[in-house]
Amino acid sequence: MISSRRSFFRQSARIAVSSGVLFPSLKPLTESYFTEIKRYQSAKSAEALAADEDFWAMIQQAYTVSPTTLNLNNGGVSPAPTLVQEAVERYFRYSNEAPSYYMWRVLDQGREPLREQLARLAGTSPEEIAINRNATEALDTVILGLPLQRGDEVVVSNFDYPNMMSAWRQRELRDGLKLNYVKLPMPCEDENRMVKLFVEQMTPQTKVVHLTHVINWSGQVLPVRKIADEAHKRGIEVLVDGAHSFVHLDYKVPELGCDYFGTSLHKWLSAPIGTGMLWVKKEKISKVFPLVPNEQPQSDNIRKFENLGTRPFFIEQAIAQAIQFNNAIGSARKYERLFYLKNYWAEKVKDIPGIELYTSLKKGYSGALAVVGVEGLKPGELESQLLTRFKIHTTPIDKENVKGVRVTPHVYILPSDLDRLVNALTILAKESSGKLAKAGK
Ligand SMILES: Cc1ncc(COP(=O)(O)O)c(C=O)c1O
Repeated sequence: MISSRRSFFRQSARIAVSSGVLFPSLKPLTESYFTEIKRYQSAKSAEALAADEDFWAMIQQAYTVSPTTLNLNNGGVSPAPTLVQEAVERYFRYSNEAPSYYMWRVLDQGREPLREQLARLAGTSPEEIAINRNATEALDTVILGLPLQRGDEVVVSNFDYPNMMSAWRQRELRDGLKLNYVKLPMPCEDENRMVKLFVEQMTPQTKVVHLTHVINWSGQVLPVRKIADEAHKRGIEVLVDGAHSFVHLDYKVPELGCDYFGTSLHKWLSAPIGTGMLWVKKEKISKVFPLVPNEQPQSDNIRKFENLGTRPFFIEQAIAQAIQFNNAIGSARKYERLFYLKNYWAEKVKDIPGIELYTSLKKGYSGALAVVGVEGLKPGELESQLLTRFKIHTTPIDKENVKGVRVTPHVYILPSDLDRLVNALTILAKESSGKLAKAGK
C-alpha cells in the first residue's frame, strides 16, 4: 500500500502543476496529488506524524535529492520540490516565446493573487505584503528607508546577520545613528534573561529594536513577542529578521507584535532561489522610503517597494507552487517534524566525549537548526572532514563562542540520513580525542 502511494507520489511529483492562476489545464493532477497527502496525514496529530517515516518518505519523493551527497545545509538555501522547479522552467520557456508579452501581460498578472496567497500564509492583509528577491532586500528596505536622524539609537545584537549589520553600520557612518549591542549568551534557555538584556540597551533615544527571530549562527530562537512588547511600551519600533523562522516555526507574522518583518522564501518555504517577502504594518508604510523609488515614495501603497524594474517573473510566480506544497504539509506538522529531526541526531551525539552542542534541544528555544563542534577540530576542519570523507555537506560556524558546523535538515531529510551524520561525528570525535590524548592535551 505504502509503496503504491510512493510511486503514485513520485509520478505526480514529476508532472508540472500550476497555482491555478496560470495554465490551469494541469489542475486535476494537482488535486489528486495533494488529496493523497491529506488523506494520509488526517488520522494523526502533528506530533505523532513527526515520527511517521512512511509519510515523510512520500514528502521526500517531491524533491530531487542527491543520491550521494547528503545536504545538511538547507538553512543556507533550500532546494525546491519538483513542482516548483518545473513551474520555473515552464514559465521561463513561456517568457522566452515573447518576453514582453508573457512576462508582463501573462505572468505578472499573477502578482496580486500571489500577494493574497502570501498574505494568507503570513496571516496578514495583502496590502501589507511586498514580494521581493530575498531577506536582504526586504530588511534593507526598512533599515535604509526609515526616517531616522543623527543621535537616534538602534538596538542590535552580536548575533545579527552580517548584511543587516552592514546596512545599520552604513547608517551609523552616514547618518550618525548610534548602535547599542546586546551581548547574547549562546545557547540560552531563559526567555526572561534575553528580554532583560534587550531592555537594558533601550534608552529614551532608541527608535528601533532589530531582532533576529532564529539566529543563523546557532539556531537560537529569540522571545520576539516579549521583547517587542517591552519596546512598544517605550515607544520603540521593532524590525524582525524572519529569514530563518518564516514557515519553519509555527506562527503568523502579527503574533510577533512587530512593525516590520522581512524574510527569504528560498529557505523554509522551498520557493525558487531568489525570492523574499517584506511585511510592513499598514500605518507604517508611508514613512518608509523604498530602496528603488517609484513616483510616489511616500505613498502608503505597499507596491511602492516592488519597483525593481525588469526581473525574473518566472521565478517570482513559482512561489505559488511552493506555497501550495507547504500548505499541503501544514505549518504545525512541518515544525514538529523539523524539531523532531534536529533532536533525533542531536540527542544521539550530545553525550559523546569531545562533542559539544551549541543549541538548546528545548521547544521554544530551537527548531531545525543546530550547531555541533568536535573538540580538537576547527570548524573549517570539521566541515571539510564531513564533506570529503563522509559526503555530508554542512556549513562551518565560527562566531563568538559558537565553534562547529551548522546542521540543518529540511522536510525531505530522513532519520536514516541523520544516522550517517551521527556515525560520522562519532568517528571524528573518537579520532580527535585519541589524537588529543596522544599529544597529552
Ligand atoms: C538570519 C538571516 N537573515 C538574513 C539572511 C539573508 O538572506 P538572503 O540571502 O535571502 O538575503 C540570512 C541568510 O542566511 C540569515 O540567516
